[in-house]
Amino acid sequence: IIFNDAYEASIVVAHEIAQLIRQKQVENKPCILGLATGSSPTKVYEELVRLHKEEGLSFYNVITFNLDEYYPMSKESVHSYWYFMHEHLFNHIDIPSKNINIPDGMIAQDEVIQYCLDYDRKIEEVGGLDFQLLGIGRTGHIGFNEPGSHQNSGTRIITLDHVTRADAAPSFLGLSNVPKRAITMGIQTVRKSKRIVLLAWGQNKAEIIKETVEGEVSSEVPATYLQEHNNTTFVLDNGAASQL
Ligand code: GLP
Repeated sequence: IIFNDAYEASIVVAHEIAQLIRQKQVENKPCILGLATGSSPTKVYEELVRLHKEEGLSFYNVITFNLDEYYPMSKESVHSYWYFMHEHLFNHIDIPSKNINIPDGMIAQDEVIQYCLDYDRKIEEVGGLDFQLLGIGRTGHIGFNEPGSHQNSGTRIITLDHVTRADAAPSFLGLSNVPKRAITMGIQTVRKSKRIVLLAWGQNKAEIIKETVEGEVSSEVPATYLQEHNNTTFVLDNGAASQL
């Protein structure tokens, strides 16, 4: 779906999420959301916060799993995705803190493999993701599934692509400050979600959006795996859609 601007698009996506949360409340079930960081979803979170404050949308039944976190990275750091999510969403809504799951960027090296397996197991135990929100990196990564990621990959520790680190460098005040690794949900973890919405705004995403939507499915552009998912929508603005 192509919108004139990111704001208009984000409102529509936020309302789909709100509708799902309310539907699950009526059914007396938890609503399991997979959430993303980056600049792309910020307006969706803004609208969800507005719906909570002004229209009484409650998040008491929402359980969230974030896609990724830098490694190593402490929660308190302003660069952490933990910090980002609390700033943009969790500090402003009534979600119980025990329902928030974000990969732990300080997990010990020798515990990380088991930790990642447990992350996937926890998602399965609560019934699987109902909705996964995604952005896309210029390498075609979703979460931090960089080129070369296997379609059956689960949550794991990965090495970041140079392009990804370079894109993150300004906010870290220099490339050398950007962590070299991250923990990310896997391609398979994401693809098991019942519904996926990928957001992309602006001309600098146009090339990767074209490759992702029109290119062959390949581990070289991990987001192309979404072509094989039966309930995925790409929500774009005119800029991101300009090469389609
Ligand atoms: C990071 C995140 C991704 C995100 C991407 C794009 O790499 N790990 O989940 O999709 O950035 O970020 P932005 O939305 O700022 O373009």
